[in-house]
Amino acid sequence: MSRTLDLPLPSPDEAAHSARLSALLREEISRVGALDFARYMERVLYAPGLGYYSAGRTKFGAAGDFVTAPELGAVFARCVARALAPALGAGRCFLEIGAGSGAFAAAALAEWARLDTLPDEYLVLETSADLRQRQATTLAARAPALAARVRWLDAPPAAPWRGALFANEVVDALPVRMFCWRGAQGLFARAVDAAPDGGLRFVERAADPGLWAAFGRAIEDPDALPVPYVSEVLPRLPEWFAAVAGALAEGVALFIDYGYPRREYYLPQRAMGTLVCHYRHRAHADPLWMPGLCDLTAFVDFTALAEAGYAAGFVPACYASQARFLLAAGLAEIADTGAVAGAVARLSLAQEIRTLALPGEMGERFKALAFLRGFDAARLPWLAIDEGFRL
Ligand SMILES: C[S@@+](CC[C@H](N)C(=O)[O-])C[C@H]1O[C@@H](n2cnc3c(N)ncnc32)[C@H](O)[C@@H]1O
Repeated sequence: MSRTLDLPLPSPDEAAHSARLSALLREEISRVGALDFARYMERVLYAPGLGYYSAGRTKFGAAGDFVTAPELGAVFARCVARALAPALGAGRCFLEIGAGSGAFAAAALAEWARLDTLPDEYLVLETSADLRQRQATTLAARAPALAARVRWLDAPPAAPWRGALFANEVVDALPVRMFCWRGAQGLFARAVDAAPDGGLRFVERAADPGLWAAFGRAIEDPDALPVPYVSEVLPRLPEWFAAVAGALAEGVALFIDYGYPRREYYLPQRAMGTLVCHYRHRAHADPLWMPGLCDLTAFVDFTALAEAGYAAGFVPACYASQARFLLAAGLAEIADTGAVAGAVARLSLAQEIRTLALPGEMGERFKALAFLRGFDAARLPWLAIDEGFRL
């Protein structure tokens, strides 16, 4: 296990927790051989009771490892709620995928109550049992009168439904496959094996047909890449999209995340890929360090997401930076600090808006991609901000 990183030292309890997950991984490796990186990522993030998202650590916010837009305050959720309101109201449902701490749900429900566009049900699809619990606690504390509308699902809705689906920073948390292009030597899959020192190490295996196919879709001209060239692909994205959104018969699906369209994703200068690990607000690049204590995430290939949505029967309708999206969704109105009582509250609101919208913060790095199915685009005027990109 490499330990060249300048990171805060985990507590003895945390180190013991990570050692338990490592032992579980080594046990699986002893049975089935080296784990494809996607399987490793799936286990370190979601292994019940031990994975990063399943084990009860704080994760989100100042005391955790990273901050997401809904954790900064209510502005992000209020803007998204306003943008999606025309697709909601009586007879409609809202589905949030990966609801984090529940902060988004509480603020969005409050906004729809103000706008009188509450959906009949607020459905949550959440992998982590621990986070489901946390979401219920947040909702009981922040939106007690509305919490009864929230229902956690064990699987995506199977029967046709109408309304809106939303996922913030979820696609970046889906387990990616890592490839290494070695030019004349060919294409290899990165896998995780047991190391002789008792830790874990990367190994490479000749690419299987599935990885070759994903590589072929992602990379237009392999000869233009430096060698070695390491990056990530999400071959299961179409299957995932169809599973979570397939039954949305009429409505809008909105995804916000950090990423690029494909032509900017697989650039020669990005030869180390986009995978990032987060531990206590430090980003690092070693996914094998302290498994279970770090968040692992990869930037989203928005072209792949658009293709996955299209294949599932949705029309990609708007691609824009988070800043443009929030402005089109009513940020200026919400940002009217004159309406907020108290200097501290005004300052904190101004800071929240800066973090969400400034280009050097989340404003440009994060993108919004909206899809429609059976829904009249004219009812969502903000779709006009579409910046477009080559599929
Ligand atoms: C980075 S967090 C973002 C949380 C929240 N949306 C926010 O913005 O604060 C990723 C969330 O997605 C959940 N998640 C990851 N993969 C999922 C999947 N396949 N289905 C449902 N939830 C998933 C995680 O457990 C976690 O709640």
